[in-house]
This record gives sequence, C-alpha cells and structure tokens, in this order.
Amino acid sequence: MSKLKNVVVSQEEILEQNQYMQKATTLLAKRYRDKDLPLAHVHSYGCQQNVNDGEKIKGMLAQMGYGFCDSPDSADLVIYNTCAVRENAEDRVFGNVGALKHNKKRNPNMIIGLCGCMMQQQHIADKIKNSYSHVDIVFGTHALHHLPQIMHNALIDNKRIFEISQSDGVIAEGLPIRHDGTIKANLPIMYGCNNFCTYCIVPFVRGRERSRNAEDIIQEAKKLVSDGYKEITLLGQNVNSYGNDLEDGINFAELLKQLNAIDGDFWIRFMTSHPKDCSKELVDMMADCQKVCNHIHLPVQSGSDRVLKLMNRKYTSQAYLELAKYAKEKIPNLSLTSDIIVGFPGEEYEDFCQTLDLIKKVEYNSLFTFIYSKRVGTKAAEMPDNVSKEQKGLWFRELLAAQQIIGSKKYGAYVGKRQKVLVEGEGKIQGNITGRNEASMIVDFVGDKSLVGSFVDVKIIGAKNSYLIGELEG
Ligand code: SAH
Ligand code: SF4
Ligand code: F3S
Repeated sequence: MSKLKNVVVSQEEILEQNQYMQKATTLLAKRYRDKDLPLAHVHSYGCQQNVNDGEKIKGMLAQMGYGFCDSPDSADLVIYNTCAVRENAEDRVFGNVGALKHNKKRNPNMIIGLCGCMMQQQHIADKIKNSYSHVDIVFGTHALHHLPQIMHNALIDNKRIFEISQSDGVIAEGLPIRHDGTIKANLPIMYGCNNFCTYCIVPFVRGRERSRNAEDIIQEAKKLVSDGYKEITLLGQNVNSYGNDLEDGINFAELLKQLNAIDGDFWIRFMTSHPKDCSKELVDMMADCQKVCNHIHLPVQSGSDRVLKLMNRKYTSQAYLELAKYAKEKIPNLSLTSDIIVGFPGEEYEDFCQTLDLIKKVEYNSLFTFIYSKRVGTKAAEMPDNVSKEQKGLWFRELLAAQQIIGSKKYGAYVGKRQKVLVEGEGKIQGNITGRNEASMIVDFVGDKSLVGSFVDVKIIGAKNSYLIGELEG
C-alpha cells in the first residue's frame, strides 16, 4: 500500500466534524421548527475542482438537515464558493455578494458564507471583513472539512467567523458528497499545484501538490460506476504528476490502467494535463485503455518560447508540437483542446503570431482563450506590461477568428462518421436529445428522452460551429 506524507486529516478529526454535523442538525431543527426544511443555496464558481468542493459542501449541509434551492431569494443559507483565477471571476463574486445585502434585509436570519480560492487570499478576506458586514462566515480552501464546526458555531451565536489557514493543504477523506448530476461525475485524484506558472494564483490558494491514495480513488470510482455514472473525470491541476509525493505510489498512467480495469460501460476523462509532464508512456496507456476517451486537454498557453519561459511553463513550442504529433499518431481520432493566454506581460505581436502559428499546426478541436489578468502576489504581476487593453482585445479577436476556421474544418470532418454518444439531456430543439462524443463535442439528434444516461451510436449528418448534428443508428 502506498503511503502519504503527513497530509491526510485524521479519522478522529473527521469523526469530530461528524459530531458537529449532528449538533448542527439539532440546532437547525430548533431554529426552523415551523418550517419543513431549512434551504441552502450553494453556488460554485471556477473550475471542476471547485465544483467538486461545492458538492462536498452540499453533502455536509444535507447531512445537517438542509434542503437546497436554486436561488438566494428563498434561501436560509447562501454559500458562494469562489474562484480567483481572473479578475472578472472575482468581480462577479463581489457583485453577487453585494446584491445579497437586500436579501439579508428581507430575511435578517439568513446566514451568508463565502469560501473557496478568493477567500484564501488574505487581502480579499480583509476586504470582506471591512466592507461586507452582511457576510457571516468566510473560510478558505484548506478549511473545507471544518464546515460542520463553522456552521455549528454560526448557529449558536451571531458572531462573524473567519477561518483562513495558511497551511500547505491537507486531504480530507470520507466527507459526504452530494453530486450535482447522475450521469457524469468528477473525481479528484490530487489537490494543489507546485508549478508556479508566473501568471497563476492557483498554487497560492490551493497549496502544494498532494495525491490521494490510489486505493481511495479506485474505491470511489467503483462506487460511482455501481451508482450508474457513465463518465468519470479525474481532476488535478497537473494530473501527470499524480503520485510524485507518494512513497511507493503508482504514477498516473498506472492509475488509468487500474481504473480502466473496473467492470462496466463507462468513460474516463481527465484534466488537466501539463505538457511538461505529459509522457509518451501516458499517451501509450491512453491508446491501450478502451474506457479512456480519445481527448487530451493540453493547455499550451503560448506558442512563443520567449513567453513560455517568462510564464515558467518549462517546455518549448517544439517539444509541445512533437508531443502533439506523437499523441495524434498513437491515438486514433484524437481530439486536442487547449488554453491560451493573450497579452501576457512583455508579449509582443511577433510572439502572438507564433501562437497563431502553433494553433494552426496542432489544429485543436476547440480552445479556451483568456486575456491575461494580473493576480496579486504572482511573479507576472511585477513584470512590465506595455501593451494596451485595446491592443490585447484586437489580438484576442484575431485568435478567435483563426480558431473558428480550424474548428469548422475539424467539426466538418466528423460528417459521415459514426460516433458513440453519451446522452446527457433534452436538446434545445423540441424532440431532440443531446450528448457528447468521446472528443467531448456536443451532438444533437432526434431521439426519445428515455435514452438520457445511456450510450448510443449516432451517425453525424451535419456540423455547426460548436456542435454536431446526428442521426440515431439502428
Ligand atoms: N492547471 C491547469 C490550469 C488551471 S487554470 C493547467 O496548468 O493547465 C485554467 C486556465 O486559466 C489556465 O490554463 C490559463 O490559461 C488560465 N489562466 C490562469 N491564470 C490566468 C491569468 N492570470 N490570466 C488569464 N488567464 C489565466
Ligand atoms: Fe496554474 Fe500552472 Fe498550476 Fe496550472 S500548472 S494551476 S496554470 S500554476
Ligand atoms: Fe478558480 Fe480556484 Fe479553480 S482559482 S480555476 S476555482 S482552483
């Protein structure tokens, strides 16, 4: 059995939190004795890791006796689980938290909580403390498993609670979880990040890399499959470094192999894969594992070696292109997607053109594109940034236009092909259902909604910019 360095929260501590959940249940029953069920509105911003934390928050709250509602208007408890990755993500949170002031006026008993990556930054927690007095509880990413105790204390008196520990991060196993969906589920395999890309806040707010024990991951995956989930997405900021911190642990390729061996008809996806650690061994393993989808999200960020160096990404565009070529040769019909940052400090038009050049060579199915956003405390925040907002906006639009041409060629190439599709829900057009193929492309087709949650074979008969049109086979 692999051993974790001292980062796993002890069973005694988890037990103690379970006791707080029981005490909170009693307090809630008293406080809301005239109501069927106190209601909580929990909203997660940001990445899938945060969404997964939000599902754990809901799991703990459900155990305490909360029901859930979609809007803060009918809620007795509102929790915003925040993201700090870009300024606009933070602005949205401040706007929504500001609006809660009116809710609190109407319902003074309402409890308002903020947690997640933004709150892990001291300057943000201070701003909430000083300027948002209607917020009752604030806790950082490392305090997630303390929620029962925090809620218990908040229900006992009306004092504001702030818990932001500056630890390197822990792993809390055995927390209850309430999944948002019934078809697809996220499964974190590791937490934190050690890479310190110079633009990125994540290592500061999520702590150091720590891998979960393979046994815990495999057990959770088996449970998801037996509960009927058809797609499992393995989560980590850099899944390729899974196991590096485990003594006698397995690596990511081996983990994929063991997950692929679980009985059942389901797909395995993962994100995110850092190009500096994406090995040929991993690509070969993907090709061998039938349940692992033929899709790699491999964020390149920039096509300029000069900018990649400034970003501390630790690979060159040449190395990236070679890896992409190897993967395309090894994995039939591979879909590659990526993240790109436009307007990194010091980036010039010449550097940007190298990014355009790279995306044309790789031919991504789709791209997630971002304009660089300055993050307090990161190295890039100290770098000179002479390009204007307007200029960055022009480059950004040029990138979108270039990808649109590549994307429509890639989508068009699917016409006439037969695809296995996991049906996820009803389509936008009445009578249509919709799902995704292995490449994670949306496929819309006529079909009965009883097919939702199952795999079907679909012939692709048309392609739009961001989705495919299909016809149910046989
Ligand atoms: N761990 C993942 C990325 C997590 S953040 C990885 O390394 O690929 C998701 C994406 O947000 C990043 O890939 C990057 O493109 C973008 N991003 C992160 N910080 C940013 C910033 N300060 N400004 C703009 N985009 C940023
Ligand atoms: Fe951020 Fe880089 Fe870590 Fe990804 S690998 S989370 S971009 S520091
Ligand atoms: Fe945002 Fe935190 Fe994820 S900063 S992208 S929610 S790890």
